[in-house]
Amino acid sequence: MLTYHTATTLDGFIADPDDSLDWLLRQQHDASGPFGFDEFMAGIGAVVMGSTTYEWVLAHEGDAWPYAMPTWVMTSRDLAPVEGADIRFASGDVRAVHEEMTAAAGGKDLWLVGGGDLAGQFAEAGLLDEVVVSVAPVTLGAGRPLLPRRLDLELVGSAVNGAFVCARYRVAGPLLEDRA
Ligand SMILES: NC(=O)c1ccc[n+]([C@@H]2O[C@H](COP(=O)([O-])OP(=O)(O)OC[C@H]3O[C@@H](n4cnc5c(N)ncnc54)[C@H](OP(=O)(O)O)[C@@H]3O)[C@@H](O)[C@H]2O)c1
Repeated sequence: MLTYHTATTLDGFIADPDDSLDWLLRQQHDASGPFGFDEFMAGIGAVVMGSTTYEWVLAHEGDAWPYAMPTWVMTSRDLAPVEGADIRFASGDVRAVHEEMTAAAGGKDLWLVGGGDLAGQFAEAGLLDEVVVSVAPVTLGAGRPLLPRRLDLELVGSAVNGAFVCARYRVAGPLLEDRA
């Protein structure tokens, strides 16, 4: 199962126009509480992200790559890997990446870190199973969009964690009105 698990502003942005997450990092949150990250990560066997997210992690985590599981980074550029981390660069059709991730995950789930267009690419291929969002009490007016596609989703769970309203959605498919 592939889950896009992310924090978002109330108006649907996952980063500001300059890729800042300062608005997010100052919020109160319990990593071991409901919809917390610790429990989610325990079920994850492989990770995928776009190159902007990769570069953000590198800039903010320094040499300490945070993920122990194999990580695919989507890019058309020749980016440097992190020494000692299992990072695999890929480009183009996300279907091949999904297959490789599934094989590497050893029966565990797959995490799509971001961004929103990459989530849209998986959704268009019918490979995005879930969206889990933690909504921060912030609006930005502009920034990196959460999921710039027209989709129908089904709410399957919700909770409050600190400052966040958290929700789990099953991806039902293209927006009903767009289906032929
Ligand atoms: N709020 C949160 O919890 C959260 C979570 C995740 C990320 N973020 C932040 O949100 C922002 C997301 O940035 P973003 O919207 O630019 O998205 P992104 O997915 O991180 O990066 C987009 C880039 O990835 C590459 N890419 C994507 N799909 C590709 C494909 N199929 N083949 C080849 N390359 C591909 C392209 O760059 P190149 O080809 O030029 O390399 C594209 O410009 C970042 O600032 C990140 O730190 C926030």
